[in-house]
Amino acid sequence: MHHSNQLTLAVDTKIPPVPHQDKNLQMQFDTDSSTPDDVVARAAQLRDEINRANRLYYVENAPELDDAEWDGRMQELLALEAAHPEIQSPDSPTQRVGAPPSSGFDEVVHPIPMLSLGNVFDEEGFRAWYKRALDFLELESAPMVCELKIDGLALAITYRDGVMERAATRGDGERGEDVTDNVRTIRSVPLRLAGDSEIIPPVVELRGEVFLPNSKFAALNAEREEAGLPAYVNPRNSASGSLRQLDSTETAKRPLDMFFYALGYIDGWDADDTKRPQNHSGSLEKIEAWGGRVNTETHRVESVEEVMDYIANAGEIRESLDYGIDGVVIKIDDLSLQSRLGFVGRDPRWAIAYKFPAEQAETTLKAIHVNVGRTGALTPWAELDPVVVGGVTVGRATLHNKDEIARKDFRAGDRVVIQRAGDVIPQVVEVSAKNERSADSKAYAFPDNCPSCETPTVQSEDEAVTRCVNTTCPAQFERLLEHFSSRVAMDIEGLGERVAQDLPRLGFVSSISDIYRLHERKDDLLELDKMGETRVDNLLRAIENSRSQPLSKLLFALGITGIGSESAEWLSRRFRSLSGVKDATEEELLAIDGIGPVVATTLVEYFAVEQNRQLIDDLIELGINPIDNTPEPSADHPANGVTFVVTGRLETMSRSEAQNRIKSLGGKATGSVTGKTNFLVAGAEAGSKLEKANRLNVHVINETEFIAFMEESIVPVRPDSLDSADV
Ligand code: IVH
Repeated sequence: MHHSNQLTLAVDTKIPPVPHQDKNLQMQFDTDSSTPDDVVARAAQLRDEINRANRLYYVENAPELDDAEWDGRMQELLALEAAHPEIQSPDSPTQRVGAPPSSGFDEVVHPIPMLSLGNVFDEEGFRAWYKRALDFLELESAPMVCELKIDGLALAITYRDGVMERAATRGDGERGEDVTDNVRTIRSVPLRLAGDSEIIPPVVELRGEVFLPNSKFAALNAEREEAGLPAYVNPRNSASGSLRQLDSTETAKRPLDMFFYALGYIDGWDADDTKRPQNHSGSLEKIEAWGGRVNTETHRVESVEEVMDYIANAGEIRESLDYGIDGVVIKIDDLSLQSRLGFVGRDPRWAIAYKFPAEQAETTLKAIHVNVGRTGALTPWAELDPVVVGGVTVGRATLHNKDEIARKDFRAGDRVVIQRAGDVIPQVVEVSAKNERSADSKAYAFPDNCPSCETPTVQSEDEAVTRCVNTTCPAQFERLLEHFSSRVAMDIEGLGERVAQDLPRLGFVSSISDIYRLHERKDDLLELDKMGETRVDNLLRAIENSRSQPLSKLLFALGITGIGSESAEWLSRRFRSLSGVKDATEEELLAIDGIGPVVATTLVEYFAVEQNRQLIDDLIELGINPIDNTPEPSADHPANGVTFVVTGRLETMSRSEAQNRIKSLGGKATGSVTGKTNFLVAGAEAGSKLEKANRLNVHVINETEFIAFMEESIVPVRPDSLDSADV
């Protein structure tokens, strides 16, 4: 007997007959057999061509199609799939754009644990490892494979019948997180393995390392700072952050890349199947044959001397690689020897990591400075006596944050060790000789007030960042002006970087609200460098037009930490006006789905600052007071307060549309099925979420039922609950 809240809902609402449009929908669903053959064939051909082009481009670095040719095929395929939704499939290259946000990652139990590696740091250590292995095997020598140790994070990707089914992070080695949607967006990861069932096992797991190319790291951080987000410390952290995005469309924007270095779990090939590789090199060859990218700097070697040569060479080419490596991995090649060697604790006896020494140098810390970013984040940095580290002259290095300085007790005048983390942003590691400090050396006092405007800084308990929360802070202000005017915010064309610098410097604008007083100062504006009559008129017109931007854009434009365009929309919906948001309490904010404690606190703190309250009042007085009139979701719609998960491919709408629909009716659309889920909307090819819903006894409805639910306010009832005693 089922005992669940769905049932109560169903009883509360009179169940009208199934609406008539149902039939039409049913007809639309049954188009599989009626899809014209040429459409099916053309789509298959386009997918093959795009997959092949992707492989050549991303894996083999030998492009075949130019951008326009690639784009043309992709557009055609997208159009075909849109016109014939029944031919869509999860392994289509069109699926790399990302799936709707998930509210968390499902747990994955690795079929074979993902282990770590023991470390050695010099030739002696390596020789000792090799000798232990040979002694264990009672052999004189054993061929090995040398690989670069990629500084990213480990992933296990399972392919069923050649199609990518699941991608999981390493986690604690036993259990990782299901990041399939995100991994689908990585261009060098095949969605479908090349070849047929003759050469691919029914189930095969490929393991490897995902990373963000060094060359893409700086650009990503620049974007993040622009958006008011903290910069990533190194490419490794950014890869990990990118992979763990809840919204895979966000991951899709990050240029992640991957190298495979091992086969994991295999099902369908017996232990003695001749198709099984005999050695590790053979595994790598299979992976390559299936279209997986294997690092080209991989060599089979026979002796310790060759290993040492490989390591020396790796150290030399390290600087020229577009990905971070932190050493070399040496593996015994023969798989039967590997299995005889087995493990000691969590480390295999058959493989070892030879770690590079960190690239460090000693120098003098001349002074500690603090930068103020657009959102007021205070970032401390060290001015150094320039020193060469790993071939690059370093004159400044990050000190991360206030707590880091206190913990390590960095002081001006100290001799310090610096290093290039991930070979990109130099950082100060430690003070090398505290006992050599002069008598007048003093502990560094992190400023309690903003170095630019003197406003007391704020550091929330769970955040390492110290901030200046004054929107009129001069150091933040120029960049804030620029952000306020940007297209995604108030869209004031003509108020770009240069004008945003000139206006405050000349005293024309000292608060955001002054923008809306500029029309009174047209003559002054004409004095600005390179500003003729036309430009000034255009600027003033753009400012005037920006008055009609919706509340959500205005809230986003204010540049409050943690308020992106989406959360600005939620605030707009909930509070309807500037003054509503200004007086929102922490409780009210926390009640908004999607707003967490950190953002709620920052908002309350922002509106507690007098200058910020004044800014809002000013804007309102100047008539910049947009009201959000979006109708309230009807409280009596039965979807109100109900939690849904949408999975699989829907025929008449995208999953995002379905989720928006749910939200607009006051329901919740979450990403993973839990005990709190009321309904799972299952489209075609629903996978693990459907299984989980069945296991947890969550009510599963199809698209037709879902539409009826949304449109006709019917709560679907389970057939099996009709004869239940609860009814
Ligand atoms: S083999 C049991 N090969 O290093 C051996 N690992 O410290 C499993 N890594 O978790 C790993 N490059 O994330 C292997 N060529 C490579 C590697 C590599 C990077 C990472 C991997 C692993 C960690 C162990």
